[in-house]
Amino acid sequence: MKNKFIIQLLIIFGLLPCCENNENISEAYRNPKNFMNEKWRPQIHFSPVTKWMNDPNGLVYFNGEFHLFYQHNPQGSVWGPMHWGHAISKDLVHWQHLPIALYPDSLGTIFSGSAVADIFNTSGFGHDGKIPLVAIYTNHSHKKESHGDIDFQTQSIAYSLDNGRSWTKYKGNPVIKNPGIKDFRDPKVIWYEAEEKWIMALAVKDRVSFYSSPDLKHWTFESDFGSGIDHGGVVECPDLFPIKTTDGIEKWVLLVSLNPGAPNGGSGTKYYIGDFDGKEFVSDNPVEKELWLDYGKDNYAGVTWSNVPGNGTSRLFIGWMSNWEYATLVPTEKWRGANTLPRQLILDGSQEDGYFLAGTVIDSINKIAGNWEYIDGKSHVLKAFPAYQLKIDLESSDSSSFKILLSNSVNNQVEITFDLSQGMLSLDRSKSGKVDFHKSFSQRVTAPLYFGKIHRVELFVDQTSIELFVNNGRIQMTNIVFPETLLNQISISKTDHIKIVSAKVRGLKSIWN
Ligand code: FRU
Repeated sequence: MKNKFIIQLLIIFGLLPCCENNENISEAYRNPKNFMNEKWRPQIHFSPVTKWMNDPNGLVYFNGEFHLFYQHNPQGSVWGPMHWGHAISKDLVHWQHLPIALYPDSLGTIFSGSAVADIFNTSGFGHDGKIPLVAIYTNHSHKKESHGDIDFQTQSIAYSLDNGRSWTKYKGNPVIKNPGIKDFRDPKVIWYEAEEKWIMALAVKDRVSFYSSPDLKHWTFESDFGSGIDHGGVVECPDLFPIKTTDGIEKWVLLVSLNPGAPNGGSGTKYYIGDFDGKEFVSDNPVEKELWLDYGKDNYAGVTWSNVPGNGTSRLFIGWMSNWEYATLVPTEKWRGANTLPRQLILDGSQEDGYFLAGTVIDSINKIAGNWEYIDGKSHVLKAFPAYQLKIDLESSDSSSFKILLSNSVNNQVEITFDLSQGMLSLDRSKSGKVDFHKSFSQRVTAPLYFGKIHRVELFVDQTSIELFVNNGRIQMTNIVFPETLLNQISISKTDHIKIVSAKVRGLKSIWN
C-alpha cells in the first residue's frame, strides 16, 4: 500500500514512467475477449479493455489500418496520469487492442494530440524508404503544475517506422514551448497542400491558435481564431480540415470542443464553416452562431482521421461518448469510457438555410448487421442481438409530433419526442436504469428542430448508448444510458398529421466475437 503511494507520487512528479510491466494489464491486452462481455460493455463501440479512457487521439490511416490512440490511465478507472492507449481497425467496425503507445516522460504525461503520415519525410525521421508516422501531442508537467507554475503544457512529437507499433520521442522536445499560458494543448496537425507545409490547430484558453511548420519540428505562430467565444469554459481539441461541399465548393471546417458550454450542459463540440488561407481561418458564420456537431450530452473531443484516401468530400470522425460533468462517475468499474460509432461527415449545401455538417454512421456497419425486420404494428421486440439499428422514413407536417419509446423487460425506458409544432426534439433518460450517479444525468436533453419537416430518423442502440440521426445526420444526438439489459423493445406513437412510410429494425452483432 505504502509502496503504491510512493509510486503514484513518482509518476505524478514525472520521475517514473508508469506501468510498463503491470501483469494484469498485459493479460487484458493478451486476451481482450475475456474482458469484453461484462455488464454495460458496449458491443458495437470501441472501449478500452481495462481502466480509463477519454479523448480519441492520433487518428491516422496508414498502410490499410485506421489507428485510434486515446487518452488512457492504465492504473485506474478515473482520469489520472495520461498515456496514449492504442487500437487499430481495418474497417472502423472491428478493433484490435494494442499495447500502450506513449508513456509519460520527464516532460510530463501525454495529453491529447494527433498523428500524421509524413509522406515526403519533411521531418527526416524516415529512413530506408520508410514513411514515418509522426505523433504530435501535449506534454503536461504535473510537477510544474504542483509548483504553482502556469507554463506546464508544451507540444512534443514522436515517430514510428513500424506502422505505429513502437514510438521514439524526438530528442528536441518540446517543439513548442509554453508562452506562459495555462491552457495550451491538443495539437491537431494537417498537411496544407497549397503551400506544402504543416498546419497545427492548438487549443489556447478561449481560442484556437494556428501554427505552421516545414518539418513538424520548427513551428511559427500564424494567427488566432475565436478569441472571446463566450462559453464560460476552455476550448479543447480543435480540428481544422478542408472539405468539398455537396454542391462542389471548397470550404474549411473548424471543430472546437468546449468544456463547459454545451447546449445541454457540460462538454460539447461546435463547429465553424469558413475559409483558410494557410495563415488565418475566417468563419462565414459569426462566432456567436451556434452550430453544434451533436446535441446529445455524450459526444466530446471528437476529431477526424488524417491521410484517408478520397476525393475530399467527406471526413471520418469519432468522439468520446461521455461528458466531463459525470464521466468519472458512470457506473462501470473495470473500465470507463467508450467512443461514438465512427461517422462520415459531409458539408451539406442542399438546404435553403446554409451549409451544415451532417454526420452518419459509416457504411461498413453493414458487416455486422442482420436482416431488416419491418415494424408493422406499433411495437416490436428485437431478440438475439446485443445492439440494433432502427430506421424510420416518414412524411411529416409542421404540426406533427411523434414519439419513440425504447424499453426492456424490467421497464427501464427512454422516451424520444419529436414535436414539430414546438420545433423541439427531446430525449428523456430519467427512467433509463442507473441514473443517480449525477444529478444532471436525468435532465431532459433537447435539440431545436429548426429546419421544418422530418423525413428520416435513425437510431443505433447499444448496451449503454443511443445515437440518433435526424434527416441523414442534420441533427446528431448521442446519449449514454445504463439500463439493466438492452433497451430492445421499440414502440412508436404519433399524431394524425404524420405518415410513417416505413419503420424497420435490424440487429447488430458484437464486434468482439
Ligand atoms: C479534453 C481534454 C484535453 C486534454 C485531455 C486530458 O477532454 O481535457 O483538453 O488534452 O482531455 O486528458
